[in-house]
Formats: sequence, C-alpha cells, structure tokens
Amino acid sequence: MTHTTKQLVLSPALAADMQAVEAQLMHRIQSQSELITAAGQHIIGSGGKRLRAMLALVAAQLGTYTLKDTLHAASAVELIHAASLVHDDLIDDADRRRGRITVHTKWDQGVALMVGDYLFALAAGEMALAPDPRVIQIFSEAVMTISASELHPVLVTTPIETALEQYYAKIGGKTAALFEAATAAGMVCGRGTPEQIKALAQYGYDIGLAFQIVDDILDFISDEATLGKPAGNDLREGTITLPLIYAVSQGSSNGLAMLFEGDELTAEQVAHTIQQVEQLGGIELSIAEARRVAERGLAALDVFPPSPAKDMLIEIVDYVLDRHF
Ligand code: FPP
Ligand code: MG
Repeated sequence: MTHTTKQLVLSPALAADMQAVEAQLMHRIQSQSELITAAGQHIIGSGGKRLRAMLALVAAQLGTYTLKDTLHAASAVELIHAASLVHDDLIDDADRRRGRITVHTKWDQGVALMVGDYLFALAAGEMALAPDPRVIQIFSEAVMTISASELHPVLVTTPIETALEQYYAKIGGKTAALFEAATAAGMVCGRGTPEQIKALAQYGYDIGLAFQIVDDILDFISDEATLGKPAGNDLREGTITLPLIYAVSQGSSNGLAMLFEGDELTAEQVAHTIQQVEQLGGIELSIAEARRVAERGLAALDVFPPSPAKDMLIEIVDYVLDRHF
C-alpha cells in the first residue's frame, strides 16, 4: 500500500470559480461581532478542501452553468459543513480538527454553539439567494438527515447484516447526505432535468459513502501528522466502523466483538485491535467496498455524454479513493 496523495488538478476556470466561493465565504463570515468573525474565520479558514462546493459547481457544469447561479448553493454547502463540524467537535469534545485547536477549546462551548448556529443561518441566507427554491428544500432535508443521524450510532459489530445496516445508515446521514445535496443542488442550479438531478444525487451520495469509508480506513492506518487528529480515535471512543465490522466477520474466535461490550479501550487494546483488524483483512475488504460504492456512483453518470465536467467528476472519485492509499 503506497501512501502518496493524489492531487486534484483544477482547470483555470474552475480554480477561479473556487476562489469566488472562497471570497464569498470570507465575506459572509465578517460580522459586527468580533467574536463571531474570529471564531468563524478560525473554522472556515482552517484549510478544508472545499470538496462539497467544488462538487456543486462541477455538477452544474453538466447543465447550463453560470457562476452567479451556482455560487450561493456552493457557498451554502460549505457553510453547512462548517456549522456541522463546530457542533460535532462540541458533541465529541474533540480538541483538534485539521491540526487546529477546535472552536469550543479555543473559546468555550457557548461560543461553539452560537458560531455553529450563526454559520447555519448564513447558509440559509445563501440558499435563499439560489435561483431555484428546490435548493432550499434539498439542503434543509440534508440538514435534517445529518442531525438525525448524529442520534443513531452503530451499536453492534455482529451479525454483519445488522452492523452494515447501522453503519450505512450512519455514514449515509453524517456524510453522504451532504455530498448528495451538493451535487443535486448543483444540477438544479445548472437547470438539469429531474432525471439528471437524480443521477447527480446518486453520484454524490455514493462518493460521499466512499469518502467516509476512506476516512474510517485512514483512522486505522494513518498517523496523527496526516490526519490532523490522533489516529485510532474511533476505536478509542468505541465508534464502530467498517474495517472493524469486516474484521469481526472474519472469525468468531478473535475476541474483537467482545471488546466493544465493555468500557473505553485502553491504549494497548487500541494498538492490538488495529493490528488484528489489519491481519483479518478488515482494511483490504473496506478498500474494496469503497471502490465498489464509488463505481456505483460513477455508473450513475452514464446518462451524461462525455464532457470536461464529467471528466472532472470522475477525477474527483479517484481523488476521494486515493486520498492516502
Ligand atoms: C462528523 O462525525 C459528523 C458530522 C460532520 C455531522 C455532525 C452533525 C451535527 C453535529 C448536527 C448539526 C448540524 C448542523 C448543520 C448545524 P465524526 O465525529 O465521526 O467525524 P470527525 O472525525 O470529522 O469528527
Ligand atoms: Mg467528530
């Protein structure tokens, strides 16, 4: 397994439009409250990839694209994402994100709660400026799904059918729903037909699933320097993800399933479990599953003829799959 990271190469036109999204985000976060501005810049300026905004722009380019018509949906999705991260770190009591200290740690919990709400309200304002009211509907449904999924953890590692059902419900809600909304809203802004919007929604959902599976794999095989947060975090917190589910399914005598019935794992248990999950093929099986899900997303694009925008959506899938392996 190589640890090279694929870089996304943007056309000059897409790079310029992404700059416009960046400028819009930075502009929107300017508030009369210095605290909101500082905490907002802290999270918005922490160097995310803006993948969701890019997906919205490129999806629109499969239809009739103008930046003006797509900018607001692209900005909205990044604001929703930022809001959810601030709230998520608060709920998880995480110290760092993307290598940076989190908002509730730098300021306090109340600030994180309010900044998250503020970002979410900014997103609502952006949605309202989109050229089609379906954009509001798409994003509000996504936020409902994201919020509800936070309340439904994966509870079991076995039987595998139940574990997979819970895992896909979880990652579908917490990650794929926003990718789906980004691409569907993009296609709405690009004046796509209902069939085209549906195809883009499927593509977005599936690459969102693949993205989260990769994230969950990286939590096992990557390191703190790459992740911007400690590796093995999911295990330490008792969060059940795909590599563990697959590893448990490879044999009932490995004792892995039982580990999760007790208290939080110790550092030794985490290290041992990571080793066992690798040995039992949990990582390899998960990589194969991420590829399979991504392929399904790519197949949804078959309804579109070849175009530079379609090539870019294919590139993004490669990028998502090759992020670190
Ligand atoms: C990350 O999960 C989870 C999310 C990004 C979704 C969190 C959603 C909410 C807190 C609901 C509030 C939503 C809005 C829009 C205000 P994780 O903890 O598994 O991943 P991590 O490693 O990135 O922290
Ligand atoms: Mg978290």
